[in-house]
Amino acid sequence: MKKTTNLVWGGRFEYDSSDILKRINNSISFDYNLAHQDIKLNKQYAKSLFKAKILSMNELKKINAALDDIQQEVKKKKFKFSDDFEDIHMNIEMALRKRVGRLAGKLHTGKSRNDQVATDVKLWTKEKIKNVIDKIKKIQKTIIKKSESNLNVIMPGFTHSQNAQPILYSHYLLSFFEMFERDKKRAKQLLENINECPLGSGALAGTNFYEIDRKALAKNLGFKKPTENSLDSVSDRDFVIEFLSLLSILSMHFSRISEDFIIWSGSAYEFLKFPDNLCTGSSIMPQKKNPDAAELVRSKCGRIYSSLLNLLIIQKGLPSGYSKDLQEDKEPLFDAFRTIDLLLDIVNEMIDSVTINKIKMYDLSKKGHMTATDLADWIVKKTNYTFREAHNITGKIVLIAEKKKKELSELTLQEFKLVEPKISKDIFNYVSLENSVSSKNSYGGTNINQVLKAIKRAKKKI
Ligand code: ARG
Repeated sequence: MKKTTNLVWGGRFEYDSSDILKRINNSISFDYNLAHQDIKLNKQYAKSLFKAKILSMNELKKINAALDDIQQEVKKKKFKFSDDFEDIHMNIEMALRKRVGRLAGKLHTGKSRNDQVATDVKLWTKEKIKNVIDKIKKIQKTIIKKSESNLNVIMPGFTHSQNAQPILYSHYLLSFFEMFERDKKRAKQLLENINECPLGSGALAGTNFYEIDRKALAKNLGFKKPTENSLDSVSDRDFVIEFLSLLSILSMHFSRISEDFIIWSGSAYEFLKFPDNLCTGSSIMPQKKNPDAAELVRSKCGRIYSSLLNLLIIQKGLPSGYSKDLQEDKEPLFDAFRTIDLLLDIVNEMIDSVTINKIKMYDLSKKGHMTATDLADWIVKKTNYTFREAHNITGKIVLIAEKKKKELSELTLQEFKLVEPKISKDIFNYVSLENSVSSKNSYGGTNINQVLKAIKRAKKKI
């Protein structure tokens, strides 16, 4: 065993950490990601220490210059993150020590890595939430653009994967606008929840007599206010869980639109085509063009869920206060963000670049008696039947059509009358696809004017 050389916490130790401890304990291989946040935090903390008269003006200047220098090195990717120093906080502190000597040791006055890491992770997450919001907006803009340029395209709307009622393709696209709008709202809400600064909470109990102005410190770091309880501050990672939850829901939406597009690009539907640049070929079947990008979006959702689950499991049994388990929040968090960031770009490109086959969509819409509800509604409107009775009559007409291998609109007036003599010839206007779509005139329905209004509202939201 080697005598300890640890400058940060080695005092009460006789011997150095074993290699095996370093392997499980060191986090620099991933928390180097927090370098900018850690430097930013240290700079603001130095300012607080100056105001609290712990650092002189001269010392503050020296520390600031050294931190600027470190920041430049990190930016230029010249900073050497070393495994000799456990984590990002120690790496930065050691780099500072190299530049300003023992003065570096003053910067940790009243500060613990526990409040420091919680603050770093919050700063990082805040930034990434904003990235997510910006990219969601970009997708929403693409949806609006595509909804406007495909306004008259009729397609089957499905329930249970079966033709149900005709809708406009724009209406379909706008349904995802709404899902992404809620994702965006969740993200904005989290920006509010996350807006309290843990720094100045110390290890768990608060800081001693050093007069750190936590309110000013929080403001300087871009937070609304300081956290209310020091013990909560160092153990709280529920904001990470919240972030991963919203990313999970967002990726679920991505997975669903991908699934629609994948199925619709297949030979069974041929509703749409992916461009070459989002597909790959087969090494054996020369004719193949596979929608790999969309398939990977669909599956990477699982990866994001697993990060969420990971964090939920890590935190479920933790006692109050900081435990090293909390170090394990970072890899799932970083991985989930890296993944969603890629998905946000791909989904945008996917929606923007698929080409729609209106004819195939229309042709399939003619199948499955999708205007049967309109027929039932006509009966209700023109006779004394209740909707339940009209439903039953219409069912019988559908049965006849099935037996004759015809669609509803292909039946003759006599065939309609065979089931219900009150049916007159204006029924043919009612059971057309166009009429079915335009009669869905309720707020939020698929009637074209409603869709235009929805587009107007959507534009206001972004
Ligand atoms: N690397 C640690 C983490 O990510 C920093 C906090 C360490 N605190 C401690 N008491 N050992 O959680």
